[in-house]
Amino acid sequence: MRKMMLIVSLLMLVVLGGCGKKETAQEEKKVLFVGTNAEFKPFEYLEDGKIVGFDAELMEKILENLGYEMEWKNMSFDGLIPALQSEKIDLIIAGMTPTEERKKAVDFSDSYLTTKQSFVIIEKNNELKTMDDLKNKKLGAQLGTAQETIARGIEGAKITPYTSITAAILDLKSEKLDAVVLENLVALPYIKNNEGLKKIDMEELPKADVAIAINKGNEELLEKINKELQNLKENGFYDEIFNKYFVDTQN
Ligand code: ARG
Repeated sequence: MRKMMLIVSLLMLVVLGGCGKKETAQEEKKVLFVGTNAEFKPFEYLEDGKIVGFDAELMEKILENLGYEMEWKNMSFDGLIPALQSEKIDLIIAGMTPTEERKKAVDFSDSYLTTKQSFVIIEKNNELKTMDDLKNKKLGAQLGTAQETIARGIEGAKITPYTSITAAILDLKSEKLDAVVLENLVALPYIKNNEGLKKIDMEELPKADVAIAINKGNEELLEKINKELQNLKENGFYDEIFNKYFVDTQN
C-alpha cells in the first residue's frame, strides 16, 4: 500500500512538474493579444481574411522589435475597452482617440497621428456646408466612437450608430442619411472610391489624436512602446507605412 502511494505521489510530481514547465515555455514566448476593429480603412481592415492597414503594420513592427509574439483579436469597436479591462486582450490599436473619458478607464501611448474631424455627404447636397448645417439632420457614425459623440452633440440631429462604416456610407448613398461623421483620413478613401460623395472638414473642432491603449499599471511596457514609436519615426518605417496607406492625403 505504502509503495503504491509512493508511486502515485511520484507520478503526480512528474505530471505537475510537466505542467509547470509548460507555463514557463509559454511565458518565454510572451504572446500579447492585440484588440482591434478591422472595419476602419486605412487604419485596419480585412484583406483575404487578414488584418492589414497602417495600425496593423505599426503594431506588428513595434511588438516584433520588442521581442513579443502577437495575436490579433478582432471585435466591435465598442467592445475593445471592456475587453482590455477584463484582460481578454493586452493592447488596443484601433485608430483610437485618447479622450478624457477613456483615459479614466485605460492608459494611452504617445499619440502617433492626428486627423481632422469631417463629415461625408452626397455631392449634389448643397445645403450642408458647415457643421452648423447638420442641426436636425439624419446622421450616421460608427458605434462607440468619438464621431458618435460629436454627432450626438449636434442639436436636434437624429443619430444612427453603425458597427460598420461601409453600411453607413451605403445608407448615405441611398439617402437614408444626410451625412456620416468620420475622421478625415478615414473619409478620404470612401470619397475616392464612391462617386457622388464629398467631404467637409469640421474646422470648428480640434484635430483628434490617435494612440495605443493599455491597462493601467503597465508603465514598463507602455514606456517600451513609446520608445519604439519614436524609433520607428526616426528610422523611416513610420513614413514608409504612412505613405503606403494614406496616399495623397493631408491629416
Ligand atoms: N478615432 C475614433 C475614436 O477613437 C474612431 C476610431 C474607430 N476605430 C475603429 N477601428 N473602428 O473614437
